This record gives sequence, C-alpha cells and structure tokens, in this order.
Amino acid sequence: MKKICVIPGDGIGPEVIPAAVQVMEKVLPDLSIIEAEAGWGCFQKHGISVPQETLDKIRDCGAALFGAVSSPSTKVAGYRSAILTMRQELGLYANLRPVRSLPGVSSRSDVDMIIVRENTEGMYAGIETLNEGRATATRVITREASLRIAGEALRLAQLLGRKKLSIVHKANVLPMTDGLFRDSVLEVVRSYQKEGLDIQVEQVLVDLAAFRMLSAPQTYDVIVTTNLFGDILSDAAAYWGGGMGLAPSLNVGDGLALAEPVHGSAPDIAGKGIANPIAAILSAALLVRFTWQLPETAARIERAVERFLEKIKIDDPSELKSLESTQNYLEGILAEL
Ligand code: IPM
Ligand code: MG
Repeated sequence: MKKICVIPGDGIGPEVIPAAVQVMEKVLPDLSIIEAEAGWGCFQKHGISVPQETLDKIRDCGAALFGAVSSPSTKVAGYRSAILTMRQELGLYANLRPVRSLPGVSSRSDVDMIIVRENTEGMYAGIETLNEGRATATRVITREASLRIAGEALRLAQLLGRKKLSIVHKANVLPMTDGLFRDSVLEVVRSYQKEGLDIQVEQVLVDLAAFRMLSAPQTYDVIVTTNLFGDILSDAAAYWGGGMGLAPSLNVGDGLALAEPVHGSAPDIAGKGIANPIAAILSAALLVRFTWQLPETAARIERAVERFLEKIKIDDPSELKSLESTQNYLEGILAEL
C-alpha cells in the first residue's frame, strides 16, 4: 500500500493540495494519507518551520506532497524557509523540473525539456555574512554533489530515452567552482557513454542558456545545472509550459521524494478559491511516475490534465488563474480521469 505525507503549507497550498490529493485518491484508491505541518504558519504556531514530527513522517512515508510556503521579507530570528530546510534535512539532492508544451496554454507546441537542478548546495549553502557595509555569500560546489546530480540526470535520460544533455554552468568566470561542477558531470557522462548510453552532450554558459530558453526552447532536452542557475532557468522555462500555475517539480533523495509545485504561496489570491491546482496535480504525477514507478498511472493523470486544458481553450495563460475556481479545475480534471 502506498503512503504519502501531505503538507499543505501556506497561502494557496491548503487550496491546491487537497485537489491534488483527490486526483491521487481517484487513481490510487488504497492510498494512505498522513498529514503534516510546515511553513510560515507552522512557525508562527509552533516556533519552528519544519517540526521534527514532519520530517519523521516524510521519512516514514518515503513520499510527500508539499503545497507552498510564505516567507517574511525581512529576517526573522529563528526562522528558516521550510522548503530549504526539508531539502537539506532530508538530503533531497535533485530537483526535477520538467517543462513541456501543453494544449491551449503554451504558445509553442514543441517544448519538452527536463531541468535537473542540484538542490543542496551552490548559492543555497546558507553561508552569508554582513560586515560594515560588505556582504558576502559563499557558493559551495562539491565533487560529491556534482557527481550525484550528474548521475541523476543521466539515469533519467536513460530511463526516458532522452537524446541530449546540456550542462549549464559559468566556468568562464568561476573556473574553480563551476569548473569542478562541469568536470564532475563530464566524468559521469563518460562512464555512461562507456556503458553504451547514446547521448549528445553540450556545454552552455548560463547567460547564453537563458537567451536560448527564450529564443529556442525546443533545443533543450535534459539540462543539468547548479542550484541557483536551475532555480532561475526553471522559472523562465515554466513560461513555455503555460506559466507558473502549471509547473511541477519533484525533489528527490535516497529512498524518498517530495513533490512540490514550482509556484509560491500566492498571498494575493489565497483564500479566494481560485488558485489553479494543475501544478500540484502534475507534481503528484511526477511522484507517481518516478518514486512509485507507475508510469501508466502518471500518464493517466497527465492526459486528464491535457484533455481538460484542450476543452477550456484559454488563449492567455495569465487569465487561467482568475478564469476558473479551484473546484472547477478539480471537477473538470476528475471527469477526464
Ligand atoms: C523554488 C523556490 C524556492 C527556491 C524558494 C521558495 C526558497 O523558488 O523552489 O524554486 O529558491 O528554491
Ligand atoms: Mg524558484
């Protein structure tokens, strides 16, 4: 029996997550749901953004679905972002962010890429200092984490029959950190190629990678990159998949995974019942595909979303969120399942 730890979080999280749970329950009727708390609301209530109990429940289930977190815009003593805490504490080293053209909402029909973002270090190492008008942030790149993320990207490429790997870095300016990242990825590439993997490999500097994300997104297949570059590129890429309301992600660690829509807590529309639950639903589908290894069940969810989008035919993706209620989305998608 499959178990999932469900963490609605803040803002629109408690609106979109129950919708995703209903979709999952429809395709996996014996799914067992364990609820847990995390986020800014949780911090205000319990003084901690991710209680130990939540971490234990996620570890116990091996799978989690997380909504969104709000963060205060100024530093609050003792507060640490819930999602960053979970990534660190649970060793969720890879963040898979697929983006593909979807009917009715994408302005191109030929985009199909998966961004494999390193998820534990880089600019997210959390080492910042501020001293008399001089602030520094330390960007940590290790061989170990670079080999691991490369392994994840190549394993995925192999699993999904992908043809091209783009290594995105900035080794021209950061020869030590990004040089280490690039060399480690290339080392893993060579070992996979020796084992017979037929994959084209290119290196793209992150600035050019951003330009190409706008001008020729169809040329990307699998992208592997460091944490902050992956964060930025994946938001840009999400445009081609119909916008942030439709962008899914899966944080992956050893023997556990946490699915999470790429969007934030959207305080401007929270509580109104209008949030688009598709990103949460597609995130759940990633978990079904990659963690529970049920590709046909995942495809069922994804096809239902596509058929729903075909029917509602929205021309301007920015209208998507205000046009329908969360409940309408849910009912429409359940009807297509
Ligand atoms: C994401 C988000 C997070 C990140 C924030 C909420 C800390 O932007 O998942 O991409 O920067 O990783
Ligand atoms: Mg982001």
